[in-house]
Amino acid sequence: MRVLERLDELYAIGGGPGANRLGGSAEEDEAHERVAAWMREAGLDVDVDDAGNLFGRLRGRRRELPEVWTGSHLDSVPRGGRFDGALGVVGALEAVERLGSRERTLAVVAFREEEGCTGRGCVGSRALCSAGFEMLPAAFLELHVEQGPQLETAGAPLGVVTAIAASARGQVIVEGREGHAGTTPMSVRDDAMVAAAELVLRLRDAAATAEGAVATVGQVTAEPGVTNVIPSRVLLSVDVRAQDDATLEEVCRVVPAELSRTAAVPMAPRPTRVLREELARRGLPPRELASGAGHDAGVLAAAGVPTAMLFVRSLNGGISHSAEECSSPEDVELGVDVLAVALERLAAVEK
Ligand code: HGY
Ligand code: MN
Ligand code: MN
Repeated sequence: MRVLERLDELYAIGGGPGANRLGGSAEEDEAHERVAAWMREAGLDVDVDDAGNLFGRLRGRRRELPEVWTGSHLDSVPRGGRFDGALGVVGALEAVERLGSRERTLAVVAFREEEGCTGRGCVGSRALCSAGFEMLPAAFLELHVEQGPQLETAGAPLGVVTAIAASARGQVIVEGREGHAGTTPMSVRDDAMVAAAELVLRLRDAAATAEGAVATVGQVTAEPGVTNVIPSRVLLSVDVRAQDDATLEEVCRVVPAELSRTAAVPMAPRPTRVLREELARRGLPPRELASGAGHDAGVLAAAGVPTAMLFVRSLNGGISHSAEECSSPEDVELGVDVLAVALERLAAVEK
């Protein structure tokens, strides 16, 4: 199956274990070059915008009409999975190749630096949307693995995304006072690491008691960062997600720092209905779910592009951002097939 072979080729860039194509890295560049070559082989018009986003266009019979876009990202987290992002680009290319030319132009897009491992993320799609569109696309569809356990638990191969979670990201600096690890009595210490650990537990408790919220501290940096000095300063990364903005604020209350926020964003009715109808036509369970993960689709939707997302079931308990990320060939094929038919419908001009 060409999609899986291409995913393997991209997965091998960066040498394992897992996918290692960090945003802005030579490995992400190499992945973009590889996909651009596949796009050219398919006869698409290839170009790269000022933010480095890659476009492969299959020109439509009526080029003056707003285009239909589909795609995702090619960068990964360190030791990431085979499917996150790459499936949405390679699957989109496969779907467009199967369809051939339609009334509207079909564009396959690979957005730059979606993951934001050390920052906000969605760098390419945000740059595109803030620069403004020559012509607002008629629709954007993103195929993506769920990266969670819901579809596997429900026994559903595919799911239609209803909305993308609200998120808050940033850094907290916890201050203390350096001192000798061997001679400073516990009673007089002002240990930044202990204070940071107490904050992490407060954040964990706040998220655990707020419906549908999650919070993560993925990065911890101690200064001066040596064995025998009590830390005087600890830097923590904070990543909070929630189904709605109010719940997000409830959790962020315990964080003594300004975090950059992205509001929850709903998917658009028409392209979402098309996906839902295509699942129903195949007699598939009509699973609908909100996405806890952020996606370029959320950025385009917030910019007014009629956007929808189709999730492919993640296996292994839905693990992702891990080399253990896994989806079955059958589910991948089904996802590409449903994407192709949805694109075909959206690329036709409504009579
Ligand atoms: O972190 C996220 O939600 C996405 O994988 N960038
Ligand atoms: Mn992703
Ligand atoms: Mn990701």
